[in-house]
Amino acid sequence: KEHNKVTNSNNFYGNSTPVELVKEYGSTLYVYNEKILRERCRELKNLVSYPNFAVNYSVKANSSLGLLKIVNEEGLYADAMSPGEIHVNLAAGFAPEKILYISNNVSKEEMQFAIDKGVLTSVDSLSQLEQYGTLNPGGRVCIRFNPGVGAGHHEKVVTGGKKTKFGVDPHLIDEVKDILNKYDLKLAGINQHIGSLFMDGSKYVEGVQSILAIAENFKDLEFVDLGGGFGIPYNKLAGQPRLELKELGVQLDEVIKNWVAKYGKEIQFKIEPGRYIAAECGILLGTVHTVKYNYDNKYIGTDLGFNVLIRPAMYDSHHDIEVYRESDTPSTKYEFVNVVGNICESGDIIAKERELPELFEGDILGVLDAGAYGYCMASNYNNRLRPAEILIKEDGSHQLIRRRDTLEDIMRTFEI
Ligand code: LLP
Repeated sequence: KEHNKVTNSNNFYGNSTPVELVKEYGSTLYVYNEKILRERCRELKNLVSYPNFAVNYSVKANSSLGLLKIVNEEGLYADAMSPGEIHVNLAAGFAPEKILYISNNVSKEEMQFAIDKGVLTSVDSLSQLEQYGTLNPGGRVCIRFNPGVGAGHHEKVVTGGKKTKFGVDPHLIDEVKDILNKYDLKLAGINQHIGSLFMDGSKYVEGVQSILAIAENFKDLEFVDLGGGFGIPYNKLAGQPRLELKELGVQLDEVIKNWVAKYGKEIQFKIEPGRYIAAECGILLGTVHTVKYNYDNKYIGTDLGFNVLIRPAMYDSHHDIEVYRESDTPSTKYEFVNVVGNICESGDIIAKERELPELFEGDILGVLDAGAYGYCMASNYNNRLRPAEILIKEDGSHQLIRRRDTLEDIMRTFEI
């Protein structure tokens, strides 16, 4: 079926067109493709040939219940960053022992929540390890180390290295051991995360080597978690290549094999990707409401404010944009425009000076690769309603998996 598009995402929308979907569910709308989600899960499950390997989906990238259920069906594990994420993971059917709570600067109550749910906690400072020991003496714990290596698409998402708040400095291993002994804690595993979005595996492998050197200091580990950060090409229309997963997998297998031989025990290895799993299965649809010139600049005014997708405003991130049109009239020219949203801030720009087919009011825009850090970072800023989310199933049909906010939702928490 034709998509009435000016450009198009192959078969992403199943049996419907984006224009039909917006008619049915409204704009803005997050659309997820089940087949792509499942494919990404499988690719990463097969990253290495080492058998005792688990993929912990970092659900912060997208914790929509409908998607989590699919990820659980695919046999992945899940990471959680907060009691809220633990709660949703459990609701999606993940067994507590398949969830790792990667905490950062948390209260006793938050730690106790995870303990009560039977979820293993990773702590990332000496004082948080002490706090854990007082709450769960004799229990199992995981520690996040900072390997001194960092990587990421923006300084705000580099989480490893000497200038970030995360992880325990490996120079403090003696102090760590003292606290483990003091509370008779069993160190089940250690983890790291160097940062978000690498397209070249070399920094990741460097980080893996650092965490494995740290792991040698501890006997009887059950697992080492190597972190996430696997990048996706956001500039597909310009031909950006994909991350070479096969090559990275071969390198990881080699590093793991050598380390296991030295350690003398086949422990479990984990990775914790978020973006790689969720980004490409999601497209955000929005509508052009105004086309205007302000002095010499052309503005395409849409409902795609930074309350629905904050990545461009927050990190200057690029998302490819497709154009869908109900009529068959194709655009006759391309031009440079600013695609802006409906939020009352001038930084509310989804694409700056982007070359797009000539746009008209009523056109539908598809913001590609919006499945990760999209809805989960959406807000009610300006008292706007967060979008609905739908799933394109493998048979091409579609299903509402989260309704749009209502005005009642906005009033829900007021006590007067
Ligand atoms: N593990 C930990 C401990 C993390 O902090 C993160 C992401 C991940 C795993 C997953 O990283 P991924 O595989 O998705 O790169 N909002 C930003 C990204 C923030 C990432 C924060 N931590 C963005 O939109 O680019």
